[in-house]
This record gives sequence, C-alpha cells and structure tokens, in this order.
Amino acid sequence: MLTSLLDAKQSNILTANETLLNWVEEMAKLTKPDRLVWCDGSDEERRRLTRDAVDAGVLIPLNEKKRPGCYLHRSNPNDVARVEHLTFICTPTRDEAGPTNNWMAPGEAYAKLRGLLDGAMQARTMYVVPYVMGPVGSPFSKIGIELTDSIYVVLNMRIMTRMGRVALDMLGDSGDFNRGVHSTLDVNPERRFICHFPQDNAIWSVGSGYGGNVLLGKKCLALRIGSHLGQREGWLAEHMLILGVESPEGQKTYVAAAFPSACGKTNFAMLIPPERFKGWRVFTVGDDIAWMRVGADGRLWATNPEAGYFGVAPGTSEKSNPNAMRVVERDTIFTNVALTPDRDVWWEGMSDAPPPGTLDWQGRPWSRASGEKAAHPNSRFTAPMTNNPVLSRHTEDPEGVPISAIIFGGRRATTVPLVLQAFNWVHGVFLGATMGSETTAAATGAVGVVRRDPMAMLPFCGYNMGDYFAHWLAMGGKIPRAPKIFMVNWFRKGGDGKFAWPGYGENMRVLKWVVDRALGQTGGMETAVGWVPREGDIDLSGLDVTSEQFRAATRVDLDEWGIELESQKEFFAKIGATVPRALELQRALLVASIAAVRGK
Ligand code: GTP
Ligand code: SPV
Ligand code: MN
Repeated sequence: MLTSLLDAKQSNILTANETLLNWVEEMAKLTKPDRLVWCDGSDEERRRLTRDAVDAGVLIPLNEKKRPGCYLHRSNPNDVARVEHLTFICTPTRDEAGPTNNWMAPGEAYAKLRGLLDGAMQARTMYVVPYVMGPVGSPFSKIGIELTDSIYVVLNMRIMTRMGRVALDMLGDSGDFNRGVHSTLDVNPERRFICHFPQDNAIWSVGSGYGGNVLLGKKCLALRIGSHLGQREGWLAEHMLILGVESPEGQKTYVAAAFPSACGKTNFAMLIPPERFKGWRVFTVGDDIAWMRVGADGRLWATNPEAGYFGVAPGTSEKSNPNAMRVVERDTIFTNVALTPDRDVWWEGMSDAPPPGTLDWQGRPWSRASGEKAAHPNSRFTAPMTNNPVLSRHTEDPEGVPISAIIFGGRRATTVPLVLQAFNWVHGVFLGATMGSETTAAATGAVGVVRRDPMAMLPFCGYNMGDYFAHWLAMGGKIPRAPKIFMVNWFRKGGDGKFAWPGYGENMRVLKWVVDRALGQTGGMETAVGWVPREGDIDLSGLDVTSEQFRAATRVDLDEWGIELESQKEFFAKIGATVPRALELQRALLVASIAAVRGK
C-alpha cells in the first residue's frame, strides 16, 4: 500500500517492502521533509550528492591532482566528537542498561525526540539510506535503514557500509532491519540526544552531525545494539580490530584486539613489519569493530561489519602508518583537518609544520604562534577499505576469519607492561573487564584521565556491564578451541616522561610473541599477574632499545599492581551485583597472590 505522501515526495522508491514503506511514511509524517530520496549506492548517485554537498558548502573539494576524489568537511565547532553524556540506552528498566550507561525510559525518550523531530526536516531532504553491516549475504550480517537529513551522513555511510540497493535486495520483504532516524536539527548541544532502543532494534539520533553520533551503522548498531543482540543470540560484538599475520613460511594467524578510542587500533591493524621481520606480513580485516561467533570447527570466527575506515588523522604519517597514508590518497572525506594553500590536507604529526598560509580546522589562518592545533585532535578521515594496500582477502568471507589470540590494550603511563598473557580464559576476561585507559579526544570531556574501560566497550556496551562480563565468561565455555588472551600497553612511560616502547611498526615484535604463545611455540616468564616475555623471547635486533629499557617496558611492579587492583574494586562496586562471582574471586586471588609472594 503506497500512500500519497510517499508518492508526492519522491520519484525513486526502490522497494516494495510494506513494513519499510510504512515506517518511512510514519517518519516522514513526523519530520515533514520537502523531499525524499532513496539511496541506491550507485556511482551516479555519489557524483550527484557530492555536487550537491559542494554547492551547499558541506564539502570543500581538495586538490584533484594530489587527492583525487577527496573532500574536506568542517563540522560545527560544538560538534567534533562522540557525546557520551548525551548517549542513552532506552531499555524497559534501568537495570538492563546498567550503571555504566545513561538510561532513559523508552516512552520518555520517544516522546522527547518525537517533539524535537516534529517538522525537523521541513525545507530539507530526507535520505533513506539502506545498508548492510557485514559481508553481503552472510547469515551473520545485519541490515539497517538510516533516515537522515544530512548529505554528509549519506556520503560517509556510503564509504563505511555496504550501502544502497544491495541492502534492500538482501532485506527483501523482511521486517528485520534496524530503524535509524537522524536529524541534525540546529546542531545545538542542548538538543542533542543519541538514543538506542534495543528491544525495538531502533536508534534515534538528533542534534549532531558527527561520526559515532550519526553514522548509525557503526557504534550505535554494530556495537550498542549489536552487543545486545550478541548476548541474546550467543555471539560477541566488540570494539576490536582484526588482523592477519603471515610468517615467511606462509603460516597465517588471525588476531582481534580491543583498544579504546584513539588508542591504536587503526595503526595496529595496518602495521608494517620492521626490516628485521623480512618476509612477515600483516593484513587488515577490520580496524574498529569485530563480530565474533563460534564456528563449526570450534574456533572463534570474526567478521568486520564495516566497509571503510573512520580513522584518527593526527599522528598519521609516512613514518607511523604508511598504509593509512595510501588509504587517504583518494576518494576520502576528511573532517576537521587543516587546509593548505594548495588545497591539500594537513594535521599534527603528518610533518614538522604545515606550509605557510594553512587554514586551521575552523577555516581560520593558522600560525604556530597561536599555540592552537591546526587540525582538531579528533579530526578524522573516512575512506573505503578497498584503498588499503594490505587489505585482507577475507573481508567478504561470510564466516570471517578464525581468531587465535585476543588482545586487550589501554593507554597507561604506568603499571601495565608492554605485554602480558592471561593464565586462562577467566583470567583473560578479568584483564579485559578491569582494563583502564587514559581518556582521549575521541569523546568530549577531559583528556588524559585514567578510567576503567572494560574491553574498550565502556561507551559502547548496550546493556548491563556485569551481564556483559557474564556473557564473555559463558562464551569461553562455548569455544572448544578458544583464543588465548593477552594485554598490551604501547603507552607506558619511562622516568623521562617519554614512551618506553617505540610502538607502531615495532609492535610487530610483540605481535610475534603473542602469536607464538597462542600457538604454543615460545616461552615466557610467569608472574603473579600473568605471563610476560623474558629477555630474548622478543627479538630486539635492529632496534634502538637497550635491554634496560626493555626490562623497564615489560616490568611487572607488584606495588603498582596492588594499587591497580584496589581501584578495580571501586569499579566492580560501581557495577554492583551483576559482576560475576568468578571475576570478584579472580581479583581477590590476585590480591592474595601478590601479598603471598611478597611474604605479607
Ligand atoms: P578509534 O578510531 O577512535 O577507535 O581509534 P583507534 O584505536 O583506531 O586509534 P588509532 O590507531 O587511530 O591511533 C590513535 C592515536 O594513537 C594516534 O595519534 C596514533 O599516532 C597513536 N598511536 C597508535 N599506535 C601507537 C603506538 O604504538 N605507540 C604510540 N606511542 N602511539 C600510538
Ligand atoms: C571511536 O570513537 O571509537 C571511533 C570514532 O571509532 S566514532 O565513530 O566517532 O565513534
Ligand atoms: Mn572506535
């Protein structure tokens, strides 16, 4: 049943799916757009929408010779990062969302956002953006439809997901799709809300135009709603990169790693092994999100639900991440980076200094004397994964890749050694659950404060954190050939205040130990808190790191761990009764073990 409203406002309806049509109509009645456009994902559409975006000043064309197909977007300065305090999980009860999430009752949230969305798209176009998260045709992939009044969102979703006709074809006449509604409204932080309705498989986002707040397939669907579905259906939706590492002999091993926002996932996923590791290769399967299920062979298999990278620009350089520099050479949308006089991009860490006449991320003339950053610290690039020179051949495999090791990692100046292997699954889950990290510019708020960020999922777990831990523990029992669990820290600092480990490509040395341990091929040293590499277990040749520095980077200091375990106690107390007893006891065991080995 096609209604007059849809007929009148559009010419290109791409589906006969009644459930979908009815929902789009309902939302169009509420938001009252002037025009409706169904996105098909074609190149013709990309060209047309890009032209519209340039005409509207939403995109600034970059130098066609230096950056073909690339554009710069400047977001509202009040809208440059995820807003965790305005992000809500709207479950029937507060307990389902748990103490680490903001909660709003579904009825209240719908009423509030309905009020804000009423007429919000007057004089605007509503784009209907159908998309697939995960390989097309995979039984594990999910379909979403995002209704948005932002052309920037459409062009980003086109890069980040399998977008357009392909999603409608996969959906057919099914009603099983995520219902996403997004309006930028007037980009006013007072009217900014990101609301998730896990029970309805729905996401309503208003008042922002930025990244994780509005590209609804990413953090909202693939992680917050995804984690809820994972708990219900027996799988894991995680804030993890996925990489493949191939030895000179051709042995391939896959690793998934959870680091909090802006803590090195994209860099690790695109790692180029140093000279010393000739013949070793690393391939990217994903750089931000992993969906993992138990396969028929009893291993844990992971797919990357995304199709592009929404990566941190600052710090990306030919030295730190040459592959990322290749990725952003073409067909990339840059957000909040600096603009050079020859219409190229620049950001802190790309080179020593930008050319004279560079404009900062807000379009103002920049000078070093101002003391301000030229690019916003959370400036980003959106680029298709097919630009990646080291893209894995397995990104479209419906089953994904088999994971041998899981790595948790935070940004910690102290305490956490370069690498640590868990004693077993429960201990590994404990290490992930109690992980701390210094906050970054990826979310609004203070930067550099240590907070507990379990499995790098604090801002992304769509249900009660204690239940999430229990789900992780239970998964261990369902994976006969479970991956080994590790913890890494690229960010430990020495007495001089500098990073104790060179990081980036040199992380290959740590990755090799991880892989060797996972395959039972190398030794280590047991400490009270886990296994660490002995000197000699990690190859340091060709590296400017003395054995003294290496010992400092890998040292387990039981005084520091004593303090660490104490502060983990507070976090468990905050989560409350849902914390699994196995994790409480694990903590108590570590506290007692440390006391015992110190003779106290
Ligand atoms: P999200 O996209 O926010 O989830 O971030 P991410 O985890 O993918 O982080 P990314 O790889 O973009 O790195 C963020 C910042 O960490 C950049 O400024 C990097 O330069 C820095 N970084 C990454 N890897 C290392 C490392 O091994 N050592 C050091 N010292 N810094 C690193
Ligand atoms: C993160 O903050 O972890 C990101 C960027 O990957 S955003 O899409 O904004 O969430
Ligand atoms: Mn992320």
